[in-house]
Amino acid sequence: MSQVLITGAAGSIGAVLARDLPPYGHRLRLLDRSPVTGATDAVAADICDPAALDAALGGMDAVVHLAAIATEAAFADILHANLDGTYQVFEAARRAGVRRVVYASSNHAVGFTPRAALLGADVPPRPDTFYGVSKVFGEALGRLYVDRYGLEVVCLRIGTFAARPEAPRHLSTWLSHGDAVRLVHAALTAPGLTYSVVYGISANTRGWWDLEPGRALGYQPVDDAEAFAAEIVAAHGEPDLADHTQAFVGGEFTGPEFDA
Ligand SMILES: NC(=O)c1ccc[n+]([C@@H]2O[C@H](COP(=O)([O-])OP(=O)(O)OC[C@H]3O[C@@H](n4cnc5c(N)ncnc54)[C@H](O)[C@@H]3O)[C@@H](O)[C@H]2O)c1
Repeated sequence: MSQVLITGAAGSIGAVLARDLPPYGHRLRLLDRSPVTGATDAVAADICDPAALDAALGGMDAVVHLAAIATEAAFADILHANLDGTYQVFEAARRAGVRRVVYASSNHAVGFTPRAALLGADVPPRPDTFYGVSKVFGEALGRLYVDRYGLEVVCLRIGTFAARPEAPRHLSTWLSHGDAVRLVHAALTAPGLTYSVVYGISANTRGWWDLEPGRALGYQPVDDAEAFAAEIVAAHGEPDLADHTQAFVGGEFTGPEFDA
């Protein structure tokens, strides 16, 4: 049984992992600066606190690093939680000899990439917000800790994590709860790993982000947003592929409402 620290465990993804990862054979310690309810092994801490991270990482085999501001925000806030916090987590993992870090990146690291037949995981960074920049930083930091210190790192460019797709874009970008758990389990257990960047979406019929890098780790998505397509198209119409919400990876984050 592997011992895994989850940062950001009180958040929406963390709560699902906390509930559904243990049956896959992982023993979890849950860290968040907000209270984590109902956990036997929980740590209340800020990820920018190195001493708290040292204590929390003792005996861990892996970290699933979710804690962040999970949307666009003032740069000072992004700087604290997403840049310094992510640095502190990688650095504490190195100090503690933790083997593997699964890092919650985002599609917004490449958000201004235009729609293509198939979006490879090797496209250049094209962040759509300061939030997206912070995810480019986290992916780069992961690469550094692989090359310099021999950690194993998987960066998950998560799409739209939700119980069900709600908007036309989600027909491509949805990551179901069950597939999120399958994806993190694969990232935690893939053999022979050094560094990998994968898209975190379900097996959506309308998906256009390459799932092969995830499949190479053993991720087998089972859900498909198409099951909700008729309902979503009836409510919103067919997706307009020329609109910025469909024309770029990052969807609405590429629009003028996100101008400073
Ligand atoms: N939900 C999505 O669709 C989605 C998509 C792409 C990427 N992601 C990424 O996945 C991760 C989790 O997303 P989520 O939707 O669960 O976010 P969330 O906002 O629901 O949860 C984030 C958690 O991190 C905690 N946190 C924030 N700053 C912290 C700090 N300094 N110290 C300790 N804890 C801190 C918060 O208290 C919160 O519980 C984030 O890194 C996010 O950027 C999520």
